Amino acid sequence: MIDFSNKILFVGYGAVAECTLPILFKHIKVAPKNVTVIDFEAKEEKLRQWTAKGVRYVRDKVTEENMHSMLGKYLSAGDVLIDLAWNIDACEILQWCHDHGVLYINTSVEVWDPYAGGKKHPTERTLYWRHMNVRKMYGKWKEKGATAVIEHGANPGLISHFTKQGLLDIAGAALAEKRVKGRKAETLKDLVTAQKFNNLAHELGVKVIHCSERDTQITDVPKEIDEFVNTWSIEGFREEGTTTSELGWGTHEKTLPAYAYQHKNGPKNQICIARMGMNTWVRSWVPNYTIQGMVVRHGEAFTISDKLTVWDGKKAVYRPTVHYAYCPCDEAIVSLNELRGYNYKLQPKLRIMNDEITKGADILGALIMGHTFNSWWVGSDLSIEESRRLVPHQNATTMQVAISVVAATMWMIENPSEGIKVPDELPHTYVLGVSKPYLGKFISTRSDWTPLRDYENAFSGFNKPDFDVKDPWQFKNFLVKDGD
Ligand SMILES: NC(=O)c1ccc[n+]([C@@H]2O[C@H](COP(=O)([O-])OP(=O)(O)OC[C@H]3O[C@@H](n4cnc5c(N)ncnc54)[C@H](O)[C@@H]3O)[C@@H](O)[C@H]2O)c1
Repeated sequence: MIDFSNKILFVGYGAVAECTLPILFKHIKVAPKNVTVIDFEAKEEKLRQWTAKGVRYVRDKVTEENMHSMLGKYLSAGDVLIDLAWNIDACEILQWCHDHGVLYINTSVEVWDPYAGGKKHPTERTLYWRHMNVRKMYGKWKEKGATAVIEHGANPGLISHFTKQGLLDIAGAALAEKRVKGRKAETLKDLVTAQKFNNLAHELGVKVIHCSERDTQITDVPKEIDEFVNTWSIEGFREEGTTTSELGWGTHEKTLPAYAYQHKNGPKNQICIARMGMNTWVRSWVPNYTIQGMVVRHGEAFTISDKLTVWDGKKAVYRPTVHYAYCPCDEAIVSLNELRGYNYKLQPKLRIMNDEITKGADILGALIMGHTFNSWWVGSDLSIEESRRLVPHQNATTMQVAISVVAATMWMIENPSEGIKVPDELPHTYVLGVSKPYLGKFISTRSDWTPLRDYENAFSGFNKPDFDVKDPWQFKNFLVKDGD
């Protein structure tokens, strides 16, 4: 428990914020009267138990026009802003917080109108583009200023810490089992001690990292026709699912996928595909089975591949391929299928499941591939029962996000003058230390899985699967394509 005597403002009180608020009060000793929640939808009922204790609720919308005056009304230097809304321009709100000495956290980097400019080049619609704009902005600042942690939810967020833990566990097992010997073993030990994660990933031979997620939460209140059902923000999911697929592009990759575009500026660690993330499917794995997941663009693909790059001057000599492989809950899969039929026009009814979930879990982790063990998965397998035990009426998906927001907020309060930070720049031991009690089963396990291990060709001799059987870690082996 840490003390905090300043103010905290939540913008957005949806699925994630609802789960975050009770956990925040468990870990941060702050007077309820110092906490304000802004949401433009009616949240009186959902907030009743908190407003009764003194939390203030304001029904309003933060817009491009009123953002400065509204934030100024509730925040001053040393206060904390927790942004769990959607479509608030990250550069503008970060600049405001920097100018006013306010600590800031969000779980995704967003813009005012993500659907504007449908004719823009695919590279300009990417998260990479947004990150470059954030970099340009803070490049002009004279000092780092108040801490602002961006993209610190579950993924992006915890997944960066799982990745670091995984690299250390792979190295530990490789050393313990004497899979590396002599000089190589000494090098590995030194990299572990120094926690040089880019060199460590390189030395271990890591080629690909998936954020692999299977949400098995099911319900006895099935999706209705014209309804989108999910376990977290439907607006957020639609926005990221219907735009370009994006991935960190490894130095071992031999051929770009169809419709791939590369960036002209910055570290150029990513590519994007002129194809919706929700329609870009890959083979992946969670303990202990193969899944098909979508390469929906996410911040971790950018930051993990950026931070794990090994540079020789201006040349990237090593980088793994990094991307999301998302298999959402069954209701969401059916909702997406309906959305495709409706030409991506959102259904009129939206529902985020909570109390109607009957069983299941959110299984979310870093699948680290290409090393001596083939694959290694590190992450959280959190059941609905366990998440309800931790915070009643919340689901496993929002729990994994909420605890990460609280952990990063605590770190921010303890480290208030660090400027802008991405999850990879926070200490993984601190964040995992706070988060683990909320993550259900914390798993770190090996597997002999490769994307080709379970593949069977149903039409052998009549189609032309485009695989690289010599190198299982090529992106083309993961990607589900015509002719496979
Ligand atoms: N990194 C992660 O792991 C992760 C996971 C889940 C969600 N997210 C992100 O977190 C955010 C919140 O997710 P959620 O599932 O709680 O979404 P949600 O749709 O359930 O809730 C968002 C809430 O914010 C309110 N809101 C939106 N814009 C607002 C504005 N301008 N002013 C005031 N209120 C506003 C909405 O009315 C809604 O109640 C989204 O941006 C989502 O993409 C990140």
